[in-house]
Amino acid sequence: MLEHERSREYMNDSEGQRLETKRLVLRFAALADAQAIFDAYASDPEATRYLVFKTLTDVGQAADFIERTVREREEGKSVTWVIVLRDTRQVIGAIDLRADGSIGYAIGRPWWGVGYVPEAARAVLDFARTHLGVKRVTGICDYENSRSARVFEKLGFRSLGLKERAVVHPAFGPEPRAVLRFECDL
Ligand SMILES: CC(C)(COP(=O)(O)OP(=O)(O)OC[C@H]1O[C@@H](n2cnc3c(N)ncnc32)[C@H](O)[C@@H]1OP(=O)(O)O)[C@@H](O)C(=O)NCCC(=O)NCCS
Repeated sequence: MLEHERSREYMNDSEGQRLETKRLVLRFAALADAQAIFDAYASDPEATRYLVFKTLTDVGQAADFIERTVREREEGKSVTWVIVLRDTRQVIGAIDLRADGSIGYAIGRPWWGVGYVPEAARAVLDFARTHLGVKRVTGICDYENSRSARVFEKLGFRSLGLKERAVVHPAFGPEPRAVLRFECDL
């Protein structure tokens, strides 16, 4: 768990502005990314099925989302990076780390299945450990989101089991759904 003041200081650290991996660049989300985020995954019902927001129908909603992430970074509540392909500079998705030590991610369908999210997450976990002093990271996913559960497994997270009626995923209606919980010591 991060102390709030400390996270505010470090989450705006220029060190975190750009993280690089073999195939990806992660950089702080900015308003100019709204259209790309909308196009890549946020407007796709399939890619947003297990997310906490409704599939976006308007690029203005993506701008609102990005504005919120920028505000939260300034307040030390979370950091959101957009995930960019190094070769083509295509924005494919986003990944975030919250001050409570939880991680979340999403990329667009054309890029599923080639290990991009595990690659991005390893860079974020590395940054969390070395720059934010985070000792433990947690994650959750809808109990039916086997692809995401597999990502946690590949990253070496241990399973903490199922939590019933935990999170609303609007694609399934207003009732909270069961989630799988994971954690990892860094
Ligand atoms: C879940 C998600 C993040 C996985 O990212 P990714 O970069 O595709 O992850 P990987 O390439 O490591 O694939 C993870 C697993 O998904 C499965 N998978 C990958 N591509 C698939 C496809 N096209 N169809 C079905 N299953 C697929 C495989 O089981 C794979 O595991 P494996 O490498 O051991 O075979 C990505 O699918 C996504 O962004 N989905 C939409 C948003 C979302 O659900 N986010 C998580 C919220 S908790």
